[in-house]
Amino acid sequence: MKKYILIFFVIISFVVTSCYNDKKETLFPSLVACDSTQYLFKTYILPMINSNCNGCHNNQAPILNSYVNIEINASSMYNDIVSGKMPQGGTPLDDCSKKMFKKWMDHGMPNN
Ligand code: HEC
Repeated sequence: MKKYILIFFVIISFVVTSCYNDKKETLFPSLVACDSTQYLFKTYILPMINSNCNGCHNNQAPILNSYVNIEINASSMYNDIVSGKMPQGGTPLDDCSKKMFKKWMDHGMPNN
């Protein structure tokens, strides 16, 4: 009987751990390669923010998961990206992503 209980727990722990998956590529599959000549919000900026920021800012203020929220917070986002304060505790964004975000801001932050 003890043996069956043990086997039962082993199987359950496999089932539980195999369901656990928080890879950002899986959560936010729309990530595309950065292109600093581009400033298309939907194609480049939002996926970049989703991938780098929304592991936290989907439910951590400031919420950064939509055009309106990102537009309102853009300048403090940019400052934090450049200073390396954000992503908090993570690898700073690459130059291409910084340039792309700046370009989008310089073009009047279109929802394109
Ligand atoms: C690991 C979690 C985490 C990630 C990833 C993260 N943030 Fe944050 N962010 C926080 C927390 C927690 C706060 C609030 C506390 C603070 O200000 O340090 C915060 C605050 C902020 C603020 C408001 C306060 C300030 O410093 O102006 C901005 C803007 C911000 N984050 C932008 C970003 C951007 C842009 C990214 C992606 C490049 C990002 N964050 C990624 C956790 C995170």
